[in-house]
Amino acid sequence: MALLAPSILSADFANLQRDIKEAVSAGADIIHIDVMDGRFVPNLTIGPCVVESIRKVTDVPFDVHLMIVEPDRYIKDFVSAGADWISVHVEAAVHLHRTVSMIKEFDKKAGVVLNPATPVFFIEDILPFVDFVLIMSVNPGFGGQKFIPQTISKVKKLNAIREKMKLDFLIEIDGGIKIENVKQVIDAGVDVVVAGSAVFKGDIKENVENFKGLIGG
Ligand code: DX5
Ligand code: ZN
Repeated sequence: MALLAPSILSADFANLQRDIKEAVSAGADIIHIDVMDGRFVPNLTIGPCVVESIRKVTDVPFDVHLMIVEPDRYIKDFVSAGADWISVHVEAAVHLHRTVSMIKEFDKKAGVVLNPATPVFFIEDILPFVDFVLIMSVNPGFGGQKFIPQTISKVKKLNAIREKMKLDFLIEIDGGIKIENVKQVIDAGVDVVVAGSAVFKGDIKENVENFKGLIGG
């Protein structure tokens, strides 16, 4: 059984409340929020004030994926806005242990994110400190991109390390996940599935129910 975390990047921003409510009432477990700064990735999206506004819409955990440089500067603001899970890119956080510790000090779930080209061994030493690891299965920056199938072997590698080190962090995957490939990533060891366009384009209720039917819960 895995959790479903719809990414609101593909929602209708003029109707965020409506779309989030529809996804949650159909069974979404977590809401995934993509924060981009136009520097770490070539796009601009959501800041703390939007998170604060949508916090009133639902009680499900907010999973804030920071695709920004110098993430330490904004962690407190996202915590105050209502983030429950916060993840930072290992490529953007130079002092990763300090950043993860900062998130944990706020009593929030701390995650680290790997771009498709960043190897799993790069994060081995931080694994005992994190609550989750997010494997990017597209290059971050935009919704609706094509899944990179080689990332499945990264999930398997991470899953094997988790077993060997007897750790219990969750494995999340993000990018290009559709009804057609979700089973494959779950079988590789994924616990949390992010899906943006596959949830918010078309019938949200039907899309969420289809995912939930396949991943359980
Ligand atoms: C990409 C974002 C993803 C994205 C997923 O930079 O981190 O969360 O919105 O969208 P889909 O599921 O459409 O690939
Ligand atoms: Zn994301």
